[in-house]
Amino acid sequence: MAQPQSGSGTSRRTFLRSVGVTGGAGAMFATMGALGLAPTAAYAAEKEAPFQPPRRGDFTLQGRTGKPAEVVVIGAGIAGLTSAYELGKAGYDCTVLEARDRVGGRNLTVRGGDTLTDINGVRQTAGFSKGQYMNAGPARLAQWMVTLDYCRELGVPIEVFTNSNASAFIYNPGTGMTAPVRYRTAKADVYGYVSELLAKATNAGALDGELTADDKERLLTFLKSYGSLGADHTYTGTEHRGFTVDPGASGTPGTELGDVPTLSEVFASNVGRSFSFEFGYDQAMLMFQPVGGMDRIPGAFARAIGEERIRTGAPVTDIRNTGDGVVVTYTQHGRTRTVKADYCIATLAPHILAKTSHNLGSAVQTALLAVRPSYASKIGLEYKSRWWERDFRIFGGITETDMDLDHIWYPSYGHLGDRGVIIGYYNTGAHSEVYSALTPAQRLERAVAQGVAIHGEKYRTELAASFSHQWKLAPYLEGAWHSMPGGPDAPAYAPLNQAQGNVYFAGDYLSYLDAWQHGAITSARKVVTELHRRVLAA
Ligand code: ALA
Repeated sequence: MAQPQSGSGTSRRTFLRSVGVTGGAGAMFATMGALGLAPTAAYAAEKEAPFQPPRRGDFTLQGRTGKPAEVVVIGAGIAGLTSAYELGKAGYDCTVLEARDRVGGRNLTVRGGDTLTDINGVRQTAGFSKGQYMNAGPARLAQWMVTLDYCRELGVPIEVFTNSNASAFIYNPGTGMTAPVRYRTAKADVYGYVSELLAKATNAGALDGELTADDKERLLTFLKSYGSLGADHTYTGTEHRGFTVDPGASGTPGTELGDVPTLSEVFASNVGRSFSFEFGYDQAMLMFQPVGGMDRIPGAFARAIGEERIRTGAPVTDIRNTGDGVVVTYTQHGRTRTVKADYCIATLAPHILAKTSHNLGSAVQTALLAVRPSYASKIGLEYKSRWWERDFRIFGGITETDMDLDHIWYPSYGHLGDRGVIIGYYNTGAHSEVYSALTPAQRLERAVAQGVAIHGEKYRTELAASFSHQWKLAPYLEGAWHSMPGGPDAPAYAPLNQAQGNVYFAGDYLSYLDAWQHGAITSARKVVTELHRRVLAA
């Protein structure tokens, strides 16, 4: 998914995904076949087969001894780590080269004392206190994602990540809204008025061509409950909107939130623009996060692979297919070195690989250049107190705004504690670019000013530390995810979906889950499967 939370727009990819959701992967591949993207039902069946990790027994059963093959993996992001981990299970001799000084790639958790320097040489050290952190990259895992299977296999404990919260706010000053509203209030009003309109249309006979008399009765029954409509099918408010004084003991029935806006006011405020987010296949609750930070996942992978196999601070400068293998050149500690291997799995970001010297051919280069990076960024704001829990009764979840901070995330860990880290902006595209052009101090100032408009002065006065991270400016990554018109199976990217000589390509961009670790993992598994079959057949 290319956008973390978007209002509208149906691309071919989202269309395919929705077909996949309702009809299963088989229906999706059949549809892709009709669109000329996937060849046959047999292909679909093949793709639906569960992943079989390579095993040592695959070779010993053939009476073969020794190491199956040497593989150099470029990139210790999730695709690279998955590749080395899975091949390692069968005894492949893997070397992982990572340009950055840590494993994980875009899986990046920032803690107190961490220093990062961007491609412009701007250096920031996080001043977060002990136990506080921000996940600058991936931060949420859907229940169906294979990432959770690796958490189980690698012993990474998980906890709930709160992705939607009725108590969080929506604030769209761009539409003329003068104050934030709670999600619960906005939903009650939008559902209420939509239900009222549909009930009116039904009662006026506008849907007689579509509905039987029984259908109409059932629809009206549903709408009365869904929209909290009165007997006359009008919406005049509901306790679902919330209370100014909460109900309690006898004698304290509570005071319902008054001032129900008009239908026109509700639609003009555009508060419903993000409602579909919470039932997106990739974003629906429950969601999860590793306890202690998302980088627990790459950390566990690295330990399982063997840290001695992973060379960090080792940017690759040349990739060469030779007749019988590959030669990869890299620099480390100021020295130029080479690794010779039988195979290479290149998991670099495609736009970075395109800037790297290689002899993979012009078709590969054209395909790499056809993938464009897109941008996202976050700022972590550590506060001396968890005022959002105490004053606003918000425990996790996301506030939406049309200001350029886009999203405020409240932490899903450390509830009721003393301090906490809010994500003060999580923005994408043009909004992310606005912040990339600013200094860290200016980013902070802008994000805090917008947060104050939602939460008041504590957003500024309780602040203890901050750290901003722009993926566009991250060395050796220079992007958050990818723009790939037509999706990963479009003909433009075909050279990347097959081995070129002894070099394979893997990454979230070569999956239907771009910008998700699940995408990187499934892409790596596909390549591991292909490479292993080839080695077994040799
Ligand atoms: N996977 C990214 C997110 O959830 C896009 O925000």
